[in-house]
Amino acid sequence: TLPKVYVTRKVPPDGLDILRKSGQVQFEMWDSDDPVPRVELLKKVKGCDGILCVLTEKIDAQLLDAAGPNLKVLSTMSVGFDHLSLDELKKRGIRVGYTPEVLTDAVAELTVALLLATSRRLIEATHEAKTGGWGTWRTLWLCGHELANSTVGILGLGRIGVAIAERLKPFKVKKFIYTDVEPRPELAKMIEAEYVSLDELAKESDFLAICCALTPETHGICNWNLFSKMKKNAIFINTSRGGVVNQEDLYEALSTGVIAGAGLDVTTPEPLPTHHPLYTLKNCVILPHVASASYTTRNSMSALAANNLLAGLRGEPMPKELKL
Ligand code: GLV
Ligand code: GLV
Repeated sequence: TLPKVYVTRKVPPDGLDILRKSGQVQFEMWDSDDPVPRVELLKKVKGCDGILCVLTEKIDAQLLDAAGPNLKVLSTMSVGFDHLSLDELKKRGIRVGYTPEVLTDAVAELTVALLLATSRRLIEATHEAKTGGWGTWRTLWLCGHELANSTVGILGLGRIGVAIAERLKPFKVKKFIYTDVEPRPELAKMIEAEYVSLDELAKESDFLAICCALTPETHGICNWNLFSKMKKNAIFINTSRGGVVNQEDLYEALSTGVIAGAGLDVTTPEPLPTHHPLYTLKNCVILPHVASASYTTRNSMSALAANNLLAGLRGEPMPKELKL
């Protein structure tokens, strides 16, 4: 009999076609745009050889125990893996696939869009225009901060950070600086970025883009200690994971003018409840975790996730396997 697979969400057509046409697996899918209820998920994974999941599913000891000893492959349709208990997966010898690279362009584009929307106050401006605030042309009305001659800081220099910097360079950025657990000379060279301490990054950046993975080391790394050192004109942009930010500290920094603005594609929790204080701030632009949301990219992610899964079940190297 064919390996049994559970797909925890309606995946985009490219990935679905690959699974269907492979003839390699018998799979069942939670055929909805909304997450599968946990209780249902725990039932459905029982006896599975493989699971294809998205980032809303917590893959922890409880779930792996519910799946049982047949489980060999976990394939997540995401580049992030903070929803996976890697220790538990490793302990059980389960191989893990994920989807880096295919989403780099889409995430970098969105990050630039969010940065500009925040720094040039686009959301506020369209709101003013359609609600009667546009009385006349005014000299300093809706003024923001420009990229030309600025210093752009990157926290966590990987493929995405490089792709963001490549796109920002034509805006006449003066200097790129970055920090990470250690210097990344090969990547840094591509964008002529200088390695600095976290302290210097905070102090010198006019724009600060957060591009690191969420790990125990980066959890809450963007806190008062960081914000309080930043420039008053600084724009903070996060398209990584909400968990890297202390949101109370960010609220304080934004509401008291310690920094100029923030653009967030990711929050804690997700969705961020509509009554959250951050929504009340004009200088905070919040998006519902859409950085990779282009048709091309979401299809590529689903295809890669499907191919990772199938390769893993065949016992072959996966196109993109996470080293545990
Ligand atoms: C999106 O956040 C991803 O991890 O792919
Ligand atoms: C702006 O529209 C200008 O003419 O300066």
